Formats: sequence, structure tokens, C-alpha cells
Amino acid sequence: MKNKIEKYLTEVQSFEANSLEQLEAFRIKFLSKKGLVPLLFADFKLVAPEDRKEMGQLINSLKTAVQEKIITLKQLLENQTDKQASGLDLSLPATGSPGTRHPLSIVRNEIIDIFSRIGFTVSEGPEIEDDFHNFTALNFPPNHPARDMQDTFFIEKDPDIALRTHTSSVQVRVMESSEAPIRTISPGRVFRNEAISARAHCIFHQVEGLYIDTDVSFADLKHTLFYFAKEMFGETTKTRFRPSYFPFTEPSAEMDISCNICGGKGCNICKYTGWVEILGCGMVDPNVLEACRIDSKKFTGFAFGMGIERIAMLKYQINDLRLFFENDLRFLRQFVSAE
Ligand code: PHE
Repeated sequence: MKNKIEKYLTEVQSFEANSLEQLEAFRIKFLSKKGLVPLLFADFKLVAPEDRKEMGQLINSLKTAVQEKIITLKQLLENQTDKQASGLDLSLPATGSPGTRHPLSIVRNEIIDIFSRIGFTVSEGPEIEDDFHNFTALNFPPNHPARDMQDTFFIEKDPDIALRTHTSSVQVRVMESSEAPIRTISPGRVFRNEAISARAHCIFHQVEGLYIDTDVSFADLKHTLFYFAKEMFGETTKTRFRPSYFPFTEPSAEMDISCNICGGKGCNICKYTGWVEILGCGMVDPNVLEACRIDSKKFTGFAFGMGIERIAMLKYQINDLRLFFENDLRFLRQFVSAE
């Protein structure tokens, strides 16, 4: 009898079921009225008194083993049927990428791509900056209004620590830590204390560029930005430069492109002028080079900075800046990128 029970136990342990029907057959075989377990209990009468304790325990452990096996296999099989019923196997790896890229990422990647084709590298820096990198090294006079609480989110006073108001701060860091020639762009998030409206936000994104070498001229600046405008907005795009002022560049300019919506004829986007402004630029002020320990007698350079939101608004004809930050899926799903 002992051998018989042990044989049954091994059979129970190695039993696998592919269907609930197979499992039911297994249950009937062992536990039904005329099943193997009740039969063993029936035979128990014949067991010699001295062996009864051991046999009793053995039959009971067989019974428990059968019951546990049924519970485990039942759970397993029911889970499988659930999965088949919903047509979903959640354990499979995802195919394709869910969702689409944010329009600001698409435009940022395109800007990076355009400039990297002419040798610009990408540099990044901290969003929380000290006064030196955001203002002082960039030739902001001590009482310049841009340092004012109106524009800047200060985190600490004396010494001033603030959220960077532009990514020119990254260029200061690059100039400090590397030797000329330098050819780099710095994409990143910037912060200004502005009321949120269709045209302004307290958080936006910039790409600023810097080129420093011997004999860099304003003609190099114009040609580089002309190339950028054509790559970004199309071969027929025209550019024009208007004199402007920035503390860190001299001379400074703003660059307009011919309105990409009406082609220069005049529409409400370009306010019937045929031109839209897309960036600020200029020749790096020698004071900035010196503050960053670059010999301004030997080297010259140009810099430029643009808002990614502005470029994206023009490119995709979006008229409200707030759409970029609301993450409404109906808006986001309209943008599809190659990668
Ligand atoms: N830093 C300027 C801004 O944030 C843009 C700029 C960069 C202008 C470089 C000129 C040269 O508005």
C-alpha cells in the first residue's frame, strides 16, 4: 500500500493540465466517490494496527497534494483564458513607439540638425544659474533692467541665484571651459517672469549659438543665419537684418524672414509687413570674451538666439503659445516626426 501511495504522489506532483477538462478528469480520478483516494481510505481497514498511523498520514498527504494541485492549476488556466478572451498578452514587449513627439522637440531636433551639418556641437548647462553666468559675464551693467525682479525669477539674493533667463549662460560656461575656436549651439528651457498669454509664457525654450575664431565677421554671421532660414523655412525664404541692442553683442541685430505664410505679400501673421522677426544676433562684445578669459585681440565671434516656440508657431501656423504647454492630445496628435 505504501508503494502505491508513493507512486500516486509522484503522479500528482508531475501532473500538468492544458485545459479545465483535463483538470476535472484529474479531480475525478483521485477525489470522486470511487476515486483513488476514497479507495485507499476503504483499504485502510485492512492495514495492520501498527502501520495505521503512518498509512493514515500518507493518505492524507496525498489528498492534500491533489487538492493543492487542483487549486494552482485552476488559477493558471483561468488566467490564460482571460488573456485569450481579451486578445491581450501584457507580457509581450511593445511594438513601435506609443504616442508622437512634442512639436517643440521636433523643431528643436530640426534646428540642431541644421546647425550640426555646418559643424556646430550641442552644449547644455544648468537651469539654475548664478548672476555671473546669466548677467555679469554677458556685460549687463549692474543696474540693467533685465536683472530686475520684473523679468527674472530669483531663488536667492546675495549672492544672486536665479532661473536662467536665456541659454547665453551656457555659452559663458563653454567659453570658460574650452579653447577657441568654438562653434556650438545651446538648446534649453528658460524662465522669465511674464504674464502668460497667447504670445508670452514664463517658461519657454531657446536655441542660442556661438561661433568664435580668428577673423569671424558679420558676413559670416549673416551667411550662417541665411543658410539656417532657408533650411528651416524653405529655399525661397528671404532674410533682413535690423539694428538692435543687446548688452553682450556689438553691433547687434534682429533677423526677420519673409513671411512664410503669405510669402511676403502681407497677412495678419506678419501684420501686413511681409516680414516676421525670428531671432536676435550680433558680434560678441569684446568685454564678454575677456570676462570668459578669451583674448579679444586675437579672437572675434558672433552669437545668436531664438525661441523654439516662435519658430514652431511660424512653421506650423500655431497662433497660441499656451497650446505647447497644455498637452491636449488633440493638439499633440497632429504632429508626426520621422524619428
Ligand atoms: N540672449 C538673447 C535673448 O535671450 C538672444 C541673443 C543671443 C541675442 C545672442 C543676441 C545674441 O533674448
